[in-house]
Amino acid sequence: MQTVTHPLAAKFTAPMTTLGFGCAPLMGRASRKESMAALGLAFDAGVTFFDTARSYGYGQSEGLLGDFLSGGRREQVVLCTKFGIRAVRPGWKQQLRPVARAAVRLVPSLRQAVQRRAGDQFTAGCFSVADLEASFDRSLRELKTDYVDMLLLHAAPMSVLEQTDLFVALEKLVQQGKIRAAGISADLPVMETFFAKPIPVLSSAQFALNPGNIAFAEKVRSHADLLLVANHPFGGTLGVNGMKDRVAALAEDAGLPEDLRRKLKETKDPQLFPELVFGMLLNGTGVAAVVPAMVSARNIRANVEAMEGCRFSAQELALVRSALAS
Ligand SMILES: NC(=O)c1ccc[n+]([C@@H]2O[C@H](COP(=O)([O-])OP(=O)(O)OC[C@H]3O[C@@H](n4cnc5c(N)ncnc54)[C@H](OP(=O)(O)O)[C@@H]3O)[C@@H](O)[C@H]2O)c1
Repeated sequence: MQTVTHPLAAKFTAPMTTLGFGCAPLMGRASRKESMAALGLAFDAGVTFFDTARSYGYGQSEGLLGDFLSGGRREQVVLCTKFGIRAVRPGWKQQLRPVARAAVRLVPSLRQAVQRRAGDQFTAGCFSVADLEASFDRSLRELKTDYVDMLLLHAAPMSVLEQTDLFVALEKLVQQGKIRAAGISADLPVMETFFAKPIPVLSSAQFALNPGNIAFAEKVRSHADLLLVANHPFGGTLGVNGMKDRVAALAEDAGLPEDLRRKLKETKDPQLFPELVFGMLLNGTGVAAVVPAMVSARNIRANVEAMEGCRFSAQELALVRSALAS
């Protein structure tokens, strides 16, 4: 599988694949068994980049990933985790997760309501130096490792960009070798402010980039000195469905070359969608890697395969990007 060529990636434990595995669903909408199966499938298919956070899976995603990686796999992967959102101690709501999962399977429209309830179980904005230290210690314990490749601020608010003490503390962790690189993940307005006035210790940036907000790609291209990672690449479950309609509309757009429109009509091919999305995000944007969530075996296989070959030329991908951005 393709690996990231950005110079920062040379500091990491292993070659970093351009396809990352987003661990947000693990121990949340995916049970322990489903989570382990998805990790195994992705790892066996060659994915080496795993993106997690202290808060994912009600605080249990890191522990599950640590279990998966222990026994020799840790040294074969690039591990990214985050701090800044605290998962609240598991309580009665967590006991109801299997029930909620079963309900969502039966009635998919319940997903958003369940996600809203899950949102009650987090405390965001935990960016003091003490928060960093406590969260990172816990992350290392859960991940069963003594360092991570990347540690990111998770959903950083604008005010964090002024928190010099936090950056000094992160620098110290880098110097100690406990993190190979520090970085930031945040909403797009915060990212723009950060891009305008970068903070030296933050050498990686992760943000949502997908067909629904592809215009933002124009703003990131000139910041590829940072290791740029696109999360939420399909725009989540709702984005997947919306995108299918947009692609169908583009396929009828007489302003696009005939050959491109013919390819966009190949909607029965499940590879069309991941090839188009990853191609658009990774070609000519400066983005080094994408991090989708993928739990189903079908989607894991499709995403791995899409990284191995894309039917669209760079020029076609640029045309689709600008058509979607306008
Ligand atoms: N730093 C941050 O603040 C932040 C914020 C958001 C997300 N993230 C990271 O980004 C990851 C992904 O984000 P996300 O889940 O919000 O969005 P996403 O990856 O855009 O969407 C996930 C959805 O797309 C489906 N999917 C995956 N591959 C597909 C394919 N080839 N064809 C059709 N559908 C496909 C998944 O299905 P299945 O899972 O059922 O296979 C799931 O329903 C997270 O796990 C996390 O690591 C980070």
